[in-house]
Amino acid sequence: MTRLVETAVEVREFVAACRKRGGSIGFVPTMGAFHEGHLSLMRQAARQNDAVVVSIFVNPIQFAAGEDYDRYPRRLEKDTRMADSEGVDLIFFPSVAEMYPKGFDSYVDQTDLPSKLCGSFRPGHFRGVMTIVTKLFNIVKPDTAYFGQKDYQQYLILRRTAVDLNLDVDVRVLPTVREEDGLAMSSRNFYLGPKQRKDATCLHEALECAAKLVDGGENSAARVAAEMRRLIRKVKGTRVEYIEIVNSETLEPVKEVKGRTLIALAVRIGKARLIDNLIV
Ligand code: PAF
Repeated sequence: MTRLVETAVEVREFVAACRKRGGSIGFVPTMGAFHEGHLSLMRQAARQNDAVVVSIFVNPIQFAAGEDYDRYPRRLEKDTRMADSEGVDLIFFPSVAEMYPKGFDSYVDQTDLPSKLCGSFRPGHFRGVMTIVTKLFNIVKPDTAYFGQKDYQQYLILRRTAVDLNLDVDVRVLPTVREEDGLAMSSRNFYLGPKQRKDATCLHEALECAAKLVDGGENSAARVAAEMRRLIRKVKGTRVEYIEIVNSETLEPVKEVKGRTLIALAVRIGKARLIDNLIV
Protein backbone atom coordinates (compact mmCIF):
# COMPACT_ATOMS: atom_id res chain seq x y z
CA MET A 1 0.00 0.00 0.00
CA THR A 2 1.39 3.41 -1.00
CA ARG A 3 2.05 5.72 1.94
CA LEU A 4 1.29 9.42 1.59
CA VAL A 5 3.40 11.91 3.56
CA GLU A 6 3.46 15.70 3.57
CA THR A 7 6.75 16.59 5.24
CA ALA A 8 10.41 16.32 4.26
CA VAL A 9 11.15 14.81 7.70
CA GLU A 10 8.85 11.84 6.98
CA VAL A 11 10.47 11.29 3.58
CA ARG A 12 13.93 11.30 5.17
CA GLU A 13 12.78 8.73 7.75
CA PHE A 14 11.39 6.46 5.04
CA VAL A 15 14.58 6.80 2.97
CA ALA A 16 16.85 6.17 5.98
CA ALA A 17 14.96 2.95 6.81
CA CYS A 18 15.24 1.78 3.21
CA ARG A 19 18.97 2.58 3.09
CA LYS A 20 19.52 0.72 6.36
CA ARG A 21 18.23 -2.42 4.61
CA GLY A 22 20.67 -1.71 1.75
CA GLY A 23 17.85 -0.74 -0.62
CA SER A 24 18.14 1.50 -3.68
CA ILE A 25 15.70 4.34 -4.33
CA GLY A 26 14.06 5.34 -7.60
CA PHE A 27 12.40 8.75 -7.72
CA VAL A 28 9.75 10.20 -10.02
CA PRO A 29 9.13 13.93 -9.47
CA THR A 30 5.69 14.99 -10.81
CA MET A 31 3.02 17.63 -10.59
CA GLY A 32 0.32 14.95 -10.40
CA ALA A 33 -2.73 14.40 -12.68
CA PHE A 34 -1.20 11.10 -13.68
CA HIS A 35 -1.46 9.51 -17.09
CA GLU A 36 0.25 6.52 -18.67
CA GLY A 37 3.43 8.60 -19.21
CA HIS A 38 3.87 9.05 -15.46
CA LEU A 39 2.98 5.41 -14.84
CA SER A 40 5.64 4.21 -17.28
CA LEU A 41 8.25 6.14 -15.24
CA MET A 42 7.00 4.62 -11.98
CA ARG A 43 7.01 1.14 -13.52
CA GLN A 44 10.62 1.50 -14.66
CA ALA A 45 11.60 2.92 -11.26
CA ALA A 46 9.98 -0.11 -9.59
CA ARG A 47 11.79 -2.51 -11.92
CA GLN A 48 15.19 -0.95 -11.28
CA ASN A 49 15.03 -0.12 -7.55
CA ASP A 50 14.07 -1.57 -4.19
CA ALA A 51 11.81 1.37 -3.33
CA VAL A 52 9.99 4.00 -5.37
CA VAL A 53 9.26 7.53 -4.19
CA VAL A 54 6.98 9.83 -6.20
CA SER A 55 6.51 13.53 -5.43
CA ILE A 56 3.33 15.40 -6.33
CA PHE A 57 3.79 19.14 -6.13
CA VAL A 58 2.43 21.82 -8.44
CA ASN A 59 5.43 24.08 -8.13
CA PRO A 60 4.33 27.74 -8.10
CA ILE A 61 7.76 29.16 -8.93
CA GLN A 62 7.95 27.46 -12.33
CA PHE A 63 4.75 29.18 -13.51
CA ALA A 64 4.83 32.81 -14.68
CA ALA A 65 1.98 35.20 -13.89
CA GLY A 66 -0.92 34.43 -16.22
CA GLU A 67 0.13 30.79 -16.77
CA ASP A 68 -1.98 27.83 -15.66
CA TYR A 69 -0.84 27.41 -12.03
CA ASP A 70 -4.36 27.86 -10.61
CA ARG A 71 -6.09 25.66 -13.19
CA TYR A 72 -3.45 22.91 -13.26
CA PRO A 73 -5.38 19.65 -12.60
CA ARG A 74 -5.15 18.36 -9.01
CA ARG A 75 -6.49 14.86 -8.34
CA LEU A 76 -4.70 13.42 -5.34
CA GLU A 77 -7.07 10.53 -4.59
CA LYS A 78 -7.05 9.16 -8.11
CA ASP A 79 -3.28 9.70 -8.38
CA THR A 80 -2.72 7.78 -5.15
CA ARG A 81 -4.75 4.81 -6.44
CA MET A 82 -2.83 4.84 -9.74
CA ALA A 83 0.57 5.05 -8.01
CA ASP A 84 -0.47 2.25 -5.68
CA SER A 85 -1.22 -0.03 -8.62
CA GLU A 86 2.33 0.58 -9.92
CA GLY A 87 3.91 -0.46 -6.62
CA VAL A 88 4.97 3.04 -5.53
CA ASP A 89 6.06 2.93 -1.88
CA LEU A 90 5.83 6.58 -0.93
CA ILE A 91 4.12 9.69 -2.26
CA PHE A 92 5.55 12.98 -1.05
CA PHE A 93 2.77 15.58 -1.25
CA PRO A 94 4.16 18.72 0.36
CA SER A 95 2.37 22.03 0.81
CA VAL A 96 3.76 25.21 -0.71
CA ALA A 97 4.77 26.30 2.83
CA GLU A 98 6.68 23.03 3.31
CA MET A 99 8.77 23.63 0.18
CA TYR A 100 8.98 27.44 0.35
CA PRO A 101 8.72 28.49 3.99
CA LYS A 102 8.70 32.16 4.91
CA GLY A 103 12.11 33.67 4.12
CA PHE A 104 12.94 31.20 1.32
CA ASP A 105 15.46 32.96 -0.94
CA SER A 106 17.80 30.49 -2.66
CA TYR A 107 17.44 29.44 -6.29
CA VAL A 108 19.23 27.13 -8.72
CA ASP A 109 19.91 28.44 -12.22
CA GLN A 110 21.87 27.81 -15.41
CA THR A 111 22.76 30.20 -18.20
CA ASP A 112 22.84 28.24 -21.44
CA LEU A 113 20.29 25.46 -21.95
CA PRO A 114 17.39 27.27 -20.22
CA SER A 115 17.71 30.22 -22.63
CA LYS A 116 16.71 27.99 -25.55
CA LEU A 117 13.46 26.45 -26.93
CA CYS A 118 10.74 26.69 -24.23
CA GLY A 119 12.98 28.95 -22.14
CA SER A 120 12.62 31.83 -24.62
CA PHE A 121 8.85 31.76 -24.15
CA ARG A 122 8.72 30.93 -20.44
CA PRO A 123 11.34 33.11 -18.73
CA GLY A 124 12.12 31.85 -15.22
CA HIS A 125 10.40 28.52 -15.81
CA PHE A 126 13.50 26.33 -15.76
CA ARG A 127 14.95 28.21 -12.77
CA GLY A 128 11.80 27.16 -10.91
CA VAL A 129 12.15 23.57 -12.15
CA MET A 130 15.85 23.35 -11.22
CA THR A 131 15.20 24.82 -7.79
CA ILE A 132 12.38 22.47 -6.86
CA VAL A 133 14.02 19.36 -8.32
CA THR A 134 17.31 20.10 -6.53
CA LYS A 135 15.39 20.50 -3.27
CA LEU A 136 13.54 17.24 -3.91
CA PHE A 137 16.80 15.44 -4.76
CA ASN A 138 18.25 16.72 -1.45
CA ILE A 139 15.25 15.40 0.48
CA VAL A 140 14.80 12.04 -1.28
CA LYS A 141 18.50 11.40 -2.09
CA PRO A 142 17.52 8.95 -4.85
CA ASP A 143 19.93 6.70 -6.73
CA THR A 144 18.04 7.28 -9.96
CA ALA A 145 15.46 9.84 -11.08
CA TYR A 146 13.17 9.35 -14.07
CA PHE A 147 11.84 11.95 -16.53
CA GLY A 148 9.87 11.72 -19.77
CA GLN A 149 11.26 12.61 -23.18
CA LYS A 150 8.30 14.91 -23.95
CA ASP A 151 10.08 17.38 -21.66
CA TYR A 152 13.46 16.67 -23.22
CA GLN A 153 14.88 20.15 -22.54
CA GLN A 154 13.92 19.78 -18.86
CA TYR A 155 15.74 16.43 -18.75
CA LEU A 156 18.92 17.91 -20.31
CA ILE A 157 18.89 20.84 -17.88
CA LEU A 158 18.37 18.61 -14.83
CA ARG A 159 21.08 16.22 -15.96
CA ARG A 160 23.41 19.25 -16.20
CA THR A 161 22.31 20.45 -12.73
CA ALA A 162 23.08 17.02 -11.23
CA VAL A 163 26.57 16.98 -12.78
CA ASP A 164 27.41 20.62 -12.02
CA LEU A 165 26.25 20.51 -8.40
CA ASN A 166 27.69 17.04 -7.66
CA LEU A 167 24.25 15.68 -6.85
CA ASP A 168 24.76 11.96 -6.53
CA VAL A 169 21.84 10.93 -8.73
CA ASP A 170 21.56 9.27 -12.12
CA VAL A 171 19.09 11.34 -14.18
CA ARG A 172 17.39 9.18 -16.81
CA VAL A 173 14.97 9.86 -19.65
CA LEU A 174 12.32 7.42 -20.87
CA PRO A 175 10.39 7.50 -24.16
CA THR A 176 7.31 9.68 -24.59
CA VAL A 177 4.10 7.70 -24.12
CA ARG A 178 1.49 8.49 -26.77
CA GLU A 179 -2.26 8.14 -27.25
CA GLU A 180 -3.33 5.78 -30.05
CA ASP A 181 -3.50 8.67 -32.53
CA GLY A 182 0.04 9.79 -31.63
CA LEU A 183 -0.70 12.73 -29.30
CA ALA A 184 1.96 12.83 -26.58
CA MET A 185 0.36 12.21 -23.20
CA SER A 186 0.33 15.32 -21.01
CA SER A 187 -1.65 16.55 -18.03
CA ARG A 188 -2.30 19.66 -20.15
CA ASN A 189 -4.27 17.60 -22.69
CA PHE A 190 -7.10 17.86 -20.12
CA TYR A 191 -7.52 21.49 -21.25
CA LEU A 192 -8.47 20.44 -24.79
CA GLY A 193 -12.10 20.40 -25.94
CA PRO A 194 -13.16 17.54 -28.30
CA LYS A 195 -12.35 19.44 -31.55
CA GLN A 196 -9.07 20.76 -30.14
CA ARG A 197 -8.17 17.26 -28.98
CA LYS A 198 -8.48 16.05 -32.60
CA ASP A 199 -6.53 19.05 -33.91
CA ALA A 200 -3.76 18.39 -31.39
CA THR A 201 -2.60 15.35 -33.36
CA CYS A 202 -1.01 17.84 -35.79
CA LEU A 203 2.08 18.07 -33.54
CA HIS A 204 2.79 14.38 -33.89
CA GLU A 205 1.88 14.41 -37.60
CA ALA A 206 4.34 17.24 -38.20
CA LEU A 207 7.08 15.30 -36.37
CA GLU A 208 6.31 12.15 -38.34
CA CYS A 209 6.45 14.11 -41.57
CA ALA A 210 9.83 15.55 -40.51
CA ALA A 211 11.17 12.07 -39.73
CA LYS A 212 10.00 10.83 -43.14
CA LEU A 213 11.64 13.73 -44.94
CA VAL A 214 14.92 13.12 -43.10
CA ASP A 215 14.68 9.37 -43.79
CA GLY A 216 14.15 10.17 -47.43
CA GLY A 217 17.42 12.14 -47.56
CA GLU A 218 16.28 15.72 -46.86
CA ASN A 219 18.95 17.31 -44.71
CA SER A 220 18.05 21.00 -44.82
CA ALA A 221 16.74 21.94 -41.38
CA ALA A 222 15.03 25.02 -42.85
CA ARG A 223 13.09 22.94 -45.39
CA VAL A 224 12.04 20.35 -42.80
CA ALA A 225 10.88 23.08 -40.40
CA ALA A 226 9.01 24.90 -43.19
CA GLU A 227 7.11 21.74 -44.10
CA MET A 228 6.20 21.16 -40.43
CA ARG A 229 4.98 24.74 -40.10
CA ARG A 230 2.90 24.40 -43.29
CA LEU A 231 1.22 21.24 -41.94
CA ILE A 232 0.36 22.83 -38.60
CA ARG A 233 -0.85 26.10 -40.12
CA LYS A 234 -3.43 24.08 -42.09
CA VAL A 235 -5.15 23.30 -38.78
CA LYS A 236 -7.30 26.31 -37.84
CA GLY A 237 -6.95 27.60 -34.29
CA THR A 238 -3.35 26.48 -33.81
CA ARG A 239 -0.58 28.96 -33.01
CA VAL A 240 3.01 27.79 -33.45
CA GLU A 241 5.26 29.07 -30.69
CA TYR A 242 8.37 27.45 -32.11
CA ILE A 243 9.56 24.70 -34.40
CA GLU A 244 13.26 24.11 -33.89
CA ILE A 245 15.81 21.68 -35.25
CA VAL A 246 18.78 21.56 -32.90
CA ASN A 247 21.74 19.51 -31.72
CA SER A 248 20.31 17.04 -29.20
CA GLU A 249 22.98 17.81 -26.56
CA THR A 250 23.60 21.56 -26.89
CA LEU A 251 20.17 22.59 -28.24
CA GLU A 252 22.04 24.84 -30.73
CA PRO A 253 20.13 25.22 -34.03
CA VAL A 254 21.59 23.20 -36.90
CA LYS A 255 21.50 24.01 -40.61
CA GLU A 256 21.92 20.42 -41.67
CA VAL A 257 20.22 17.41 -40.10
CA LYS A 258 23.10 15.06 -39.35
CA GLY A 259 24.09 13.15 -36.20
CA ARG A 260 21.64 13.05 -33.30
CA THR A 261 19.27 15.91 -33.95
CA LEU A 262 16.30 17.05 -31.87
CA ILE A 263 13.21 18.27 -33.69
CA ALA A 264 11.05 20.08 -31.14
CA LEU A 265 7.94 22.20 -31.26
CA ALA A 266 5.51 24.08 -29.05
CA VAL A 267 2.01 24.87 -30.29
CA ARG A 268 -0.88 26.63 -28.61
CA ILE A 269 -4.36 25.23 -29.15
CA GLY A 270 -7.06 27.07 -27.23
CA LYS A 271 -5.95 27.31 -23.61
CA ALA A 272 -3.39 24.52 -23.94
CA ARG A 273 0.28 24.96 -24.71
CA LEU A 274 1.48 21.64 -26.10
CA ILE A 275 5.05 20.50 -26.70
CA ASP A 276 6.47 17.45 -28.40
CA ASN A 277 9.75 16.33 -29.94
CA LEU A 278 11.58 13.60 -31.74
CA ILE A 279 15.25 12.66 -31.97
CA VAL A 280 16.36 11.67 -35.47
O1 PAF B 1 7.79 17.80 -15.37
C1 PAF B 1 7.18 18.15 -14.34
O2 PAF B 1 6.12 17.62 -14.01
C2 PAF B 1 7.77 19.25 -13.46
O3 PAF B 1 8.42 20.22 -14.23
C3 PAF B 1 8.69 18.71 -12.36
C4 PAF B 1 9.92 18.02 -12.93
C5 PAF B 1 7.94 17.75 -11.48
C6 PAF B 1 9.19 19.88 -11.48
O4 PAF B 1 8.13 20.55 -10.89
